[in-house]
Amino acid sequence: MAASSPDGRLLGLDRDTAAIETAHVQLALYSERVTLVHSSFNRLAEVAQSHGYVPADGILFDLGLSSLQLADPTRGFAFTIDGPLDMRFDSTADGLTAATLVNELSLQELMDTLYQFGEEVQARRIAEAIVDARPLYTTKELASVIERVVRRRGRIHPATRTFQALRIAVNDELSMLTAALPQAVGLLSPGGRLAVIGFHSLEDRLVKRFLRRESRDCICPPEVPACLCDHRATLRLITRKPIRPTADEIATNPRARSARLRVAERV
Ligand SMILES: C[S@@+](CC[C@H](N)C(=O)[O-])C[C@H]1O[C@@H](n2cnc3c(N)ncnc32)[C@H](O)[C@@H]1O
Repeated sequence: MAASSPDGRLLGLDRDTAAIETAHVQLALYSERVTLVHSSFNRLAEVAQSHGYVPADGILFDLGLSSLQLADPTRGFAFTIDGPLDMRFDSTADGLTAATLVNELSLQELMDTLYQFGEEVQARRIAEAIVDARPLYTTKELASVIERVVRRRGRIHPATRTFQALRIAVNDELSMLTAALPQAVGLLSPGGRLAVIGFHSLEDRLVKRFLRRESRDCICPPEVPACLCDHRATLRLITRKPIRPTADEIATNPRARSARLRVAERV
């Protein structure tokens, strides 16, 4: 906020009320220039309109999970700390929890979830072990079921992909992102920039495809001899390849190691 002084304004959205509270404290110095809203990214356009943030000069999506969420045992995001199998970003919503998925999905649905959202090649083996062991209520119970059937590969814990898959499914993260990206483009002023930091390949692939498509004048399939679509580029790519953290950054913040930043500019 110091860089946007004296009159730059910031609208921040998060599904997590705890994140909003923390941001209020951290940004207290700039409170007259900051609006923080408890909301999902898929309501970005509506929230920006209603708080007078249209058009926007820049929009940043910092996706995924925060260190605060990961460290809080009551949230159930970490397999290293025991806690309820929750994993909701928005704990005020009555919706689905990880326990619901783990205990109520059919074997096939569980396998599909682990494969689709965790790219877990051992999805069948893990899903079968979960179905045999349920009901499961805690993160440690789930992690130990997985440890029994999957051998550790290098430094990666065998439960990593399952926890990622459940978290993405509980929060419907990919649909939220799919809905939010076009809204962001619609809010930007010409020359305004859209930046997205993703933390896994599913997110990054979705962002890459969206930015590529929006930076092309024609999106007809290659076999069509003359353009039949009315598509016009709305973005210009600033990053052709994602920006990855430097070794120094990873040394000071190891959780940044999987981050990928992509940026485009509104034309
Ligand atoms: C990587 S953290 C952001 C960390 C923050 N930039 C910081 O520096 O402390 C990602 C945040 O996005 C939030 N989040 C994830 N998906 C969301 C969505 N669809 N709508 C709103 N917030 C979301 C999570 O609750 C989490 O607080």
